[in-house]
Amino acid sequence: MSDYDVIVIGGGPGGYVCAIRCAQLGLKTACVEGRETLGGTCLNVGCIPSKALLHASHSYHEATHNFTKMGLMGKSPSVDFGKMQEYKDGVVEGNTKGIEFLFKKNKIDWIKGYGTITAAGEVTVDGTAHKAKNIVIATGSEPSSLPGVEVDEKTVVTSTGALALPKIPKSMVVIGAGVIGLEMGSVYARLGSEVTVVEFLDHITPGMDAEISKTFQRMLKKQGFKFIMGAAVQSVDTSKGKAKVNYKLRKDDSDATIDADVVLVATGRKPFTDGLGFEALGGTISKRGQIETDDHWRTNVAGVYAIGDVIDGPMLAHKAEDEGMAVAEVIAGKHGHVNYNVIPGVIYTAPEVANVGKTEEELKEAGVDYKIGKFSFMGNARAKAIFQGDGFVKLLADAKTDRILGCHLIGPGAGDLIHEICVAMEFGASAQDVALTCHAHPTFSEAMREAALACGDGAIHA
Ligand code: FAD
Ligand code: NAI
Repeated sequence: MSDYDVIVIGGGPGGYVCAIRCAQLGLKTACVEGRETLGGTCLNVGCIPSKALLHASHSYHEATHNFTKMGLMGKSPSVDFGKMQEYKDGVVEGNTKGIEFLFKKNKIDWIKGYGTITAAGEVTVDGTAHKAKNIVIATGSEPSSLPGVEVDEKTVVTSTGALALPKIPKSMVVIGAGVIGLEMGSVYARLGSEVTVVEFLDHITPGMDAEISKTFQRMLKKQGFKFIMGAAVQSVDTSKGKAKVNYKLRKDDSDATIDADVVLVATGRKPFTDGLGFEALGGTISKRGQIETDDHWRTNVAGVYAIGDVIDGPMLAHKAEDEGMAVAEVIAGKHGHVNYNVIPGVIYTAPEVANVGKTEEELKEAGVDYKIGKFSFMGNARAKAIFQGDGFVKLLADAKTDRILGCHLIGPGAGDLIHEICVAMEFGASAQDVALTCHAHPTFSEAMREAALACGDGAIHA
């Protein structure tokens, strides 16, 4: 007889959400997690600690740059970086403990340790075999390495090291102008580090709408970021706690170097399957290291499912969570579903950047006839009042049917504003549906309505 209906391997946002939903659906559930705390990459060394440091450093920036403009005089705050780290650690602890509480509340067994699938329906942890009718792999991802670059998590760090530096570096070189590089770069740029980003491509944030990407880079430059574009990092030399980054400029193949106190390697993440035993059972893993699944997250091994960063798709916590809920429904005999066309992406810089659906470039390539509704935050009273008029909303709709196809924005509260369009897209709404919806004044959300109005007869405040 099975010990469990479901054993979930991995306690990150994919795994813990899956375990909770399984328990809610009446399935006897356990979750195997090897870390000391639940919550995976996201809660321990990802989303949550990075947002805590972004919040603290943004507050410092506001106090030192904008307070006097509003008549808030007095001594500027100084940074106690140790205390800032304690604050961040406290936020992490509160959240990971919260998941432990939810496990107890939902009667989910946390099997502590790293699990190996030793046979179909069997997960072994520290020599003890646990039987389950269904196994869900949610083992997540880890930073990918770069040839010629050795990470010591002191001078040459991944995001994990960057979240826990002992002091603010004078200079930081970030390899990769993706999400991690720009968020963590923002933290240290605000705290006074000289931040230089070395990026292989000639634009930042690959995959993002090109217009937004350009505006974003311009804004980051204004904030003190330096960029070396079209540069492939070849190696990093370290000596006496300092680093030398060697790169090749793609345009003329010339070699150059840049020195730094700390180098952050942020060139992507790769699926984590070490010690899992999945391949030994005949499980299929793609060339990119992802566990292959069908539309219902089933692997080719009977009774074994996989979700989150370890499978295909954007490496995002909310995508993992959605899959966690959906696979639980499938296992319980219900109709689990994830709409991969409506997964928002957010970069939590200042201003925030957010997107959902197709980019203009993707629509062009697909030959779709589209129209654009654009609205600048300069026309939004609330944004101007807080010195954040620099940014815009770009709504893309089908030229004939007016159905919303995508939305891209850079501006205050973008990470929250985007969800109005996510809901609209889930309901197959037109731009006019959003334009006809009353939006409270004065809110940032009025910019979304104005962009929708711009898809029709025109925005009012433009
Ligand atoms: P993970 O969160 O990686 O969890 C997997 C867990 O499985 C880990 O705890 C690991 O210890 C455990 N595990 C692995 N193998 C085994 C085994 N054999 N036995 C037992 N346990 C095992 N995403 C967002 O959406 N928003 C953000 O703001 C955001 N910020 C980020 C910031 C940083 C710095 C980083 C690195 C990532 C960020 N992400 C963000 C991405 C997000 O963290 C991941 O997409 C998300 O955590 C994936 O969830 P998951 O459950 O698939 O895997
Ligand atoms: P990324 O894939 O976003 O960006 C990597 C960048 O590195 C790319 O621009 C790439 O061109 C560049 N690069 C690669 N090799 C290079 C080289 N040799 N020299 C110079 N540049 C090079 O990866 P990142 O930032 O590491 O993030 C990993 C994952 O974490 C992402 O998939 C993201 O979804 C997730 N994440 C999400 C966050 C959010 O949702 N706010 C925050 C942080 C991470």
